[in-house]
Amino acid sequence: MSCCHHYEFMDGHEHVFAVDPSAIRFGQGALAEIGHDALELGLKRVAVFTDRVVAKLDAVATVCSALRAAGIDVVVYDEVRVEPTDQSFKDASRFASEGNFDGFVSVGGGSVIDTCKAANLYSTYPAKFLTYVNAPIGDGQAVPGALKPHIACPTTSGTGSECTGIAVFDLLEQHVKTGIASRRLRPTLALIDPDVTATLPANVVAASGFDVLSHALESYTARPYTQRKKPENAGLRPMSQGSNPWSDVGCREALRSCGEYLVRAVKDSGDTEARHGMMFAATLAGIAFGNSGVHLPHGMAYSVAGMIRDYQPDGYPKEEPICPHGISVVVDVPSVVRFTAPALPARHLEVAKLLGADVTGASEEDAGEVLAESIIRMMRDAEMPNGIGALGYGEGDIASLAEGAFAQQRLLTNSPIAVNEEDLQGLYRSAATYW
Ligand SMILES: [Fe+2]
Repeated sequence: MSCCHHYEFMDGHEHVFAVDPSAIRFGQGALAEIGHDALELGLKRVAVFTDRVVAKLDAVATVCSALRAAGIDVVVYDEVRVEPTDQSFKDASRFASEGNFDGFVSVGGGSVIDTCKAANLYSTYPAKFLTYVNAPIGDGQAVPGALKPHIACPTTSGTGSECTGIAVFDLLEQHVKTGIASRRLRPTLALIDPDVTATLPANVVAASGFDVLSHALESYTARPYTQRKKPENAGLRPMSQGSNPWSDVGCREALRSCGEYLVRAVKDSGDTEARHGMMFAATLAGIAFGNSGVHLPHGMAYSVAGMIRDYQPDGYPKEEPICPHGISVVVDVPSVVRFTAPALPARHLEVAKLLGADVTGASEEDAGEVLAESIIRMMRDAEMPNGIGALGYGEGDIASLAEGAFAQQRLLTNSPIAVNEEDLQGLYRSAATYW
């Protein structure tokens, strides 16, 4: 079914992969069609989730006026927190519970879309907060049934949240990022208008662009689905099922687009071809990782972002230290690919080639180094931080970072190489500085 015998069937192991597609409209003008889509879904009164910055952009005005023109009652909630927390999820859920809505719309980046997923969940199936949160941090209970319709309108070309069933947040008391994962959280429909990225600051385009690259790279190098034990019944098949032939298709094209467009989109806000190309890459990578799952870089990113002390990048709110999601991920990637390449050398070399690296004469033993170097070059060109050292982390933080990452078992088990806490410490040490 695929090259290099990547998927080998074994007795007692998985033979089936699932494709949970997202309904998507992609292209200039997609947001203006939302009135029609909302009526099709039978909506009469919706909550529009956004944050204070995005609330002032044209996207929110376009969405609200199209909904109102269709005769739909609209209430805007603009208090979504960038990099949400358990507290901000609870506040949004309270708003959703009290508003008597029959559906939800989110307009913003991953923080907004994730918050809307959580608000939809807790207002539809009220429960103690940790009930649905991933184990072992939360109880990891299944979402009891279908949620209300949710139309997601992304305004950054990054998270792919519009295509996934995952909502990520900081659990404040434990200083750790974690999430809620269920197919039922996946938005009903994603409206993706690539023009929304035209006004984004370069640093935001860079951070979200490397998030896209990482989604595709991690999905493509995730443990093959055929290496997972067969579930006792189809209902127990995990959403993060590992690399599979369906996700591979989107990953390859997303990686090729990242190689061609990512740095260009950062350097020149007027490069419409590059910014549109990254928006489509984000969509492809979102569909891919929504069906395969990411692994070590995202698992490590949780504590990199959650423990940040004084980092304040340009282009983001200045009220408090913040590590944008894409930055917390990409600083781990070169270290991880050097570690994982021996498990899947051909795939790692192929990723380097898709990103535009010259792999002529490279052998499979070189795969990790060739790929790491190609990503480091892109990070430098896009002026990303030089490893976790540049975010303020030192040797004294390694044990805590690894402890936080080790709690992300849902992601770690998707790695092509099994890791323990000591391995994670080594991976953080190797991520301290790259050039
Ligand atoms: Fe991500």
